[in-house]
Amino acid sequence: MIGVKNEELLAAARAAMEHSYSPYSGFRVGAAVLAQSGRIYSGCNIENASYGATICAERCAIFSGIAQGERRFIKLAVVSSGDGYPWPCGICRQVMLEFMPPEGSILLEDKGKILELALDELMPHGFTKEALSSE
Ligand code: THU
Repeated sequence: MIGVKNEELLAAARAAMEHSYSPYSGFRVGAAVLAQSGRIYSGCNIENASYGATICAERCAIFSGIAQGERRFIKLAVVSSGDGYPWPCGICRQVMLEFMPPEGSILLEDKGKILELALDELMPHGFTKEALSSE
């Protein structure tokens, strides 16, 4: 798919995790998204003393791509320093739905084990722009 292998995307997510700023939770997260253009954008979680100002790695990666002119992503990889698969939070799932098709792929890594699922499985029955088109 556009010449980018899952391993390449996971490597970008792992590299981004190194930049995680997570002094409050100690939970390091890295993400990387593959845009329709074939380019990869990465992000990490960035925490704040005002906890609500924290941004997750997934949104950081997607917003980085958007800010550089992308509008569509087809695959997103997430890694973390925790145990188990790094399930994306609800806000990140909603943002994925805005910029990825339902068949877009999500890769989660847990100590070398990879789980790949479609966005539609992660975020079924979501609220999208289609709901607003008749307004
Ligand atoms: N976090 C993410 O980066 N992605 C998620 O989907 C879940 C949570 C981060 C936010 C915060 O810095 C830390 O993990 C603990 O919640």
